[in-house]
Amino acid sequence: MARKLENRTALVTGANRGIGLAIAKAYASEGAKVLLAGRNEAALKRLQAEIAAAGGQAKVFAADLEDAASVRALAASIKREFPSLDVFVANAASLGARVPLVRYPLETWRQSLRINVEANLILLGELDALFKASDSARIILLSANVATQGKATTGSYAVSKAALEAMARIYIVESKGTPIRVNIVSPGPTRTEMRARAAPEENPMSIKPPEALAPLFVELATRECQRQGEWLNADDWLAGRTAAARPV
Ligand SMILES: NC(=O)c1ccc[n+]([C@@H]2O[C@H](COP(=O)([O-])OP(=O)(O)OC[C@H]3O[C@@H](n4cnc5c(N)ncnc54)[C@H](OP(=O)(O)O)[C@@H]3O)[C@@H](O)[C@H]2O)c1
Repeated sequence: MARKLENRTALVTGANRGIGLAIAKAYASEGAKVLLAGRNEAALKRLQAEIAAAGGQAKVFAADLEDAASVRALAASIKREFPSLDVFVANAASLGARVPLVRYPLETWRQSLRINVEANLILLGELDALFKASDSARIILLSANVATQGKATTGSYAVSKAALEAMARIYIVESKGTPIRVNIVSPGPTRTEMRARAAPEENPMSIKPPEALAPLFVELATRECQRQGEWLNADDWLAGRTAAARPV
């Protein structure tokens, strides 16, 4: 059977663990060349070896997304090696502190904004020419339900995801008329380190593993996918409620 991402090059940030790792593995098994970005180079290299052992293709790009210079260097390395980029999954994120707003540490606030918003802004700008050189660039931004919930102690995490969604709305309008398609996924409760920190009282075995999200991320990365400007709740999508997607 033909693989769904044959001849496609996909950048996944935060590919060393959690949801990013599951997406990277799924993309490689569907035939994509996966660019594994993150700051844990050893873990990324282990993943690269695992993908290669399974017959897939992956390359490691070490970068600290909190550092604008490092993000620019990441983009420069990609531009040196690839004339176009078909898929960008903006997955890496920081949860920040879980404290009320009035006690929120400003440096943690700024750190979340740097990683969850500014790094993606820089990558969109630096990689713009590569997306436009693809006949079907697909950009998938990971948000969270708390972006619009006003939930206590979600502080800079929720605010940064709301900012990311606002950024997506602008970018969608500004990339009109190009083959670029931009969608947002809210993964919902998923068994990762971030979720364990966000909901320590929860039994991790009661929520889905990151691999469960793979089919959605594969669909959104395909050439055929014409979804544009949709905010997809992954749990709805996995339950077959695709019509529940709303505009970003
Ligand atoms: N899990 C859930 O239930 C859930 C729910 C809603 C939304 N999400 C979203 O889904 C995405 C993935 O979350 P996850 O649960 O897989 O989180 P995770 O297990 O905490 O993984 C986060 C990833 O981001 C990377 N990262 C963080 N800061 C970085 C930095 N400065 N430079 C480079 N990489 C950095 C981490 O790398 P290190 O290992 O180096 O820290 C890790 O690879 C996030 O956007 C998150 O907001 C998750």
